[in-house]
Amino acid sequence: MISQSLLFARAFEHQAEAAIPASARPVFHFTPRTGWMNDPNGFSYYKGQYHLFYQYYPYRTEWNSMHWGHAVSDDLLHWTYLPAALAPDEPYDSFGCFSGSAVTMDDGRQLLMYTGVRKTGGDEDRDHQTQCLAIGDGVNYVKYAGNPVLDEKDLPEGLSCHDFRDPHIWRDEDGRYNCIAGSCGKDRYGVMLLFRSEDGFSWKRVGTLIRDNGRFGRMWECPDFFMMDGKAVLIVSPQDMLPEGYEYQNGNGTLAQTGTFDEETGMFTPETQQALDYGIDFYAPQTLLAPDGRRIMIAWMQNWDTCRPPSYDERKWFGQMTIPRELFLRDGKFCQRPVRELESLRSGRVEYRDVTVSSRRVLPGVEGRPVELNLHIRPADGRTYYKFSLHIAEGEQAYTEVSYRPHESVLKLDRTFSGSRRAFIHQRRCLVKDRQGELDLRIIVDRFSVEVFVNDGEQTMTATIFTDPGAAGISFEADGEVRMDVIRYALDGGK
Ligand code: FRU
Repeated sequence: MISQSLLFARAFEHQAEAAIPASARPVFHFTPRTGWMNDPNGFSYYKGQYHLFYQYYPYRTEWNSMHWGHAVSDDLLHWTYLPAALAPDEPYDSFGCFSGSAVTMDDGRQLLMYTGVRKTGGDEDRDHQTQCLAIGDGVNYVKYAGNPVLDEKDLPEGLSCHDFRDPHIWRDEDGRYNCIAGSCGKDRYGVMLLFRSEDGFSWKRVGTLIRDNGRFGRMWECPDFFMMDGKAVLIVSPQDMLPEGYEYQNGNGTLAQTGTFDEETGMFTPETQQALDYGIDFYAPQTLLAPDGRRIMIAWMQNWDTCRPPSYDERKWFGQMTIPRELFLRDGKFCQRPVRELESLRSGRVEYRDVTVSSRRVLPGVEGRPVELNLHIRPADGRTYYKFSLHIAEGEQAYTEVSYRPHESVLKLDRTFSGSRRAFIHQRRCLVKDRQGELDLRIIVDRFSVEVFVNDGEQTMTATIFTDPGAAGISFEADGEVRMDVIRYALDGGK
């Protein structure tokens, strides 16, 4: 039985979507069918297609009682909206269906686990968060009659259901179901708990995967956990992080760790740590394993501190996902490239080799939006330069700048003049590998975003932009002399 709330949401989104022309959306970045979107949920490959669910409030462009929106894709770039999958329609999730994940069961059905949130009532009226199931066929999902399947009785002493959320489930080699979910005690430091189940329905706590003692922010949200190159990988999005040098500058940021995992005790022992993105807008990533073995990651391309749409914004949607990215380890460090499917959108290749850049320079044919730029820059004739900068989405009053100062080896992304009329963060700096002034950049620009991949994916810087879509200029400038190779593509699939 589909609830009235879900029926209503489905009817609403169907109508509202029709009022949003394609030209008001990004060309190849995912946006909600209508209304508000935050975290990706249940990112999975099921019945021969990629499935993406998302934290969703269809009725307005604001965070409110969370539904799960739903879409499918064959290539991770073109998405077809499906009807909303979950609505808050049970006593245990009356305040919202928060983030979660998906696996396939032996009988071919898809199992979703999400956080059901209700309010405690009373003076404090705090969240009460428990883990719940819904079972479906890829379109319709029925909430499990035994919900919630994990609640306060499953928590160790000192932790509570005020913060207990974002279950990530996976099946191990024996077919067993595993789940990790985040919680925190009074100190608010992140704790990841591990649960196990033979059938996906009745769950037992195995142990504590990891307990952070305040080194990495507070409550850890939206975990992901998998094996890569023989290492266990834990990705989380900690709240309220303190920056460490150029790392973790986003307040609510991301933390990726490799380490070892003891299946018996359920303990994860980390060996390496890094942020996953060095730009402004990147949070709550989820990954899936594609049939061809690629680990593909997608994240919410926003930051909680900068995500309130201004009152003058008339867009009927808010929130974008990043371009899906292939995640891999190189020399023990996480690297990312846009999914190779993106190459199918390329057209209009323009190439220049050994261009000298000093004072401002535009190159005929190197322009456009959406656009992909591949740059290789180096000092001219072995001489050093002080600064190289590149303007994209450039118009009469607008531009977004990517600049590099080789003597500091710092790359900067600056969207101050991208059309924003708000006083929130517009710049971010990233320390990159010192290669004596040599630098490789791959820059993906859509109507409302910029994603910079540095030195073949060693680091990324992601930010949303607000620039009028007509601003499509690109220019280069250097303080000193730079030699540059450029390959530019339009990214519109030849349209
Ligand atoms: C992270 C988050 C999750 C939660 C969801 C609610 O962005 O706060 O922890 O499940 O958003 O929408």
